[in-house]
Amino acid sequence: MFRNLISPSITKPLSAQKSVRSFSSASVLRQAAATNYQHILTETRGKVGLVTLNRPKALNALCNDLFVEVNEAMKNFDEDDNIGAIVLTGSEKAFAAGADIKEMKDNTFVDTYKKDFLGHWAKISDVKKPIIAAVNGYALGGGCELAMSCDIIYAGEKAVFGQPEINLGVIPGAGGTQRLVKAVGKSRAMEMVLSGGANLTADEAQSLGLVSKVVPADQLIDEAIKTAGKIASKSQASVQMGKELINKSFEVPLSAGLRWERAYFQALFGTADQKEGMNAFAEKRKPTFTNN
Ligand code: CAA
Repeated sequence: MFRNLISPSITKPLSAQKSVRSFSSASVLRQAAATNYQHILTETRGKVGLVTLNRPKALNALCNDLFVEVNEAMKNFDEDDNIGAIVLTGSEKAFAAGADIKEMKDNTFVDTYKKDFLGHWAKISDVKKPIIAAVNGYALGGGCELAMSCDIIYAGEKAVFGQPEINLGVIPGAGGTQRLVKAVGKSRAMEMVLSGGANLTADEAQSLGLVSKVVPADQLIDEAIKTAGKIASKSQASVQMGKELINKSFEVPLSAGLRWERAYFQALFGTADQKEGMNAFAEKRKPTFTNN
């Protein structure tokens, strides 16, 4: 993991990263391992992987290369046994202002169709570990869709959620017509998607259920890390099954979802963590999960 530390190419990205936030030396070292990234930063905080979109001049517009990097970072954290949950964030001004309009503006239908344009954005849904989106500032178009692809959304007080694609002569292409309606209801989703306005403030997003917590902007990442850390301290099989089943509830009929749930619940009795968790309760002590 640390093999890239000696690469001279890390000098500039590292100093740029330091200017974004202050890091512990351990986390800076870990970031240095991710020297190939041009548009994101990664670090670990305890058992939490943190991915920060870092294309400030374009308000974190989601160009193709940025998304490839996000997918790679997510995959790496997903495969890392020391990580139990992931936080995805942007800057104080923008989580992400959408797909990169300048990059895609000259695309043709044949290009987009043949190459399945944006198809790779769906890979984030393959991540088994929970992802918390920590959204400050603009989460517009693909930015709102990216946040909704995560499992939990926390928002800074000034976050803005919207689907303005209709203003560009298109529609949302990564979940805005599907996930949004489930989060905010049909009428508001129609308003947002069809008018290209009716953006949600953080408080509105929370009252509608899109967001589960609103905090001051400067506390957002810490708050998300705190929750992610709590999740990461649980038995990972239980956490990942819980995530999978909640997501399944969007796709299968209730009777099938309930059957899956019961089967997974029963399966967990085959784990050492179930024995530890229940024995700890009976013995009035805190459980120590080993992910076995
Ligand atoms: N793509 C490419 N570049 C973008 C961008 C985007 N989505 N959003 C912002 N930028 C760039 C701007 O072009 C500008 O670059 P320059 O300095 O080189 O001109 C820079 O970021 C700063 O932006 P603004 O000057 O516009 O900043 P602002 O504070 O005045 O406005 C904003 C902020 C309201 C978010 C405005 O930038 C905006 O409306 N952005 C576009 C939002 C949008 O339409 N998103 C949907 C994209 S389509 C999509 O996402 C499809 C899908 O479903 C996947």
